[in-house]
Amino acid sequence: MYKQYFPLLQNRNIHYLDAAATAQRPQAVLDGVQAYYTRSNGNAGRGSHTLAMESSALIEAARTAVSRFIGADNSGEVVFTKNATESLNIIAYCYGLEQLHTGDEIIISIANHHANLIPWQFVARKTGAVLRYVYLDERGNFDMSGFKSLLGSRTKVVAVTAAVNTTGVVFPVQEIITEAHKYGAVAVIDAAQSIAHFPHDVAAWDCDFLAFSGHKLYAEFGAGVLYAKRALLEQMPPFLYGGSMIEFVSEQTSEFKAGGAKYEGGTLDTAAIHSLKLSIDFLTEQGLAAVHTYSEGLHRALIAALQELDFVDLYYAHAERRVPTVAFNVKDVHSHDTAYILDEQGVMVRSGHHCTQPLMDYMGINSCCRASIGIYNTQEDIDALAAALKKVHDVFKQ
Ligand code: ALA
Repeated sequence: MYKQYFPLLQNRNIHYLDAAATAQRPQAVLDGVQAYYTRSNGNAGRGSHTLAMESSALIEAARTAVSRFIGADNSGEVVFTKNATESLNIIAYCYGLEQLHTGDEIIISIANHHANLIPWQFVARKTGAVLRYVYLDERGNFDMSGFKSLLGSRTKVVAVTAAVNTTGVVFPVQEIITEAHKYGAVAVIDAAQSIAHFPHDVAAWDCDFLAFSGHKLYAEFGAGVLYAKRALLEQMPPFLYGGSMIEFVSEQTSEFKAGGAKYEGGTLDTAAIHSLKLSIDFLTEQGLAAVHTYSEGLHRALIAALQELDFVDLYYAHAERRVPTVAFNVKDVHSHDTAYILDEQGVMVRSGHHCTQPLMDYMGINSCCRASIGIYNTQEDIDALAAALKKVHDVFKQ
């Protein structure tokens, strides 16, 4: 149904089930990037000639589109970075290092991606803060009662994922934020894996910080988003010092732009940022509700198909709420071997630890395979995965 809009899938005879690593791009996004470089390429925010100003206007149009897409009160709360990892590091460096002190506590989930875990280890090491973990219930859900028991007057930061990149389990971010605020802590939400799958509303959630990457939302590589409440952006120091983030520079001192602009030092990737608006436009034209419903249907079909295979272990497929990302292993077969044999049959899944090594330890496995759905996938892809897994089983069963 949506596959027709994705040229790579017309050009290659494959079953691409790795949207959680990066989504394929629709023609409209690719055309828009081509048009940018063939008509408007200039350095945004630098110069008053037509091409520089056109580039600046594209960035501001993208900022408005992103801010509406995530329900921000104003576009000044949207900062463009290069990816979710950079956005999360800005929060760790500019909020964590500045605001935390010895004995303060940072609560994170065992299921966080390394990008929302290692920066907090760094902050804890530098400030003397303590890192505390929330674990999972037996179905892979966020352990809300365990979380509540960790919260206290020392809690300063709660950093969680909205949807677990490895298992697809969705965490109740609204409730997590509300609980964090009862203790005056800020909430950091990693939306890298959720942004493509359900509506986000940072204002309604009263979210303090949110991060995601455009390339998982059908945009180009190179455009990440940091959302932060205006008051936090005003309070924090800059991250990268250099061109464009300044108001005034003298020999010994500098004054920086207000709000989010002070985090956009250096030349921005205008084409990638523009492509993020194009991908949001594309999804909006298809109808966000229709797109979400379509991939939820495929998600159910994927789980049903894998459950049919008694030689496959599925992880947390029965969690309360999930995005269309499913973790599994063929019993007694290493995930890389499985992925390699699947690939030989044109079926592409990710294998390994998925940048969630503490989660792997917690689950008692060294690695797993992960199939993740984008809107270009079809029932044929799921059938192909099931057939290819039977081949893996045949190869290893002797
Ligand atoms: N974070 C991406 C993933 O989960 C790359 O695959």
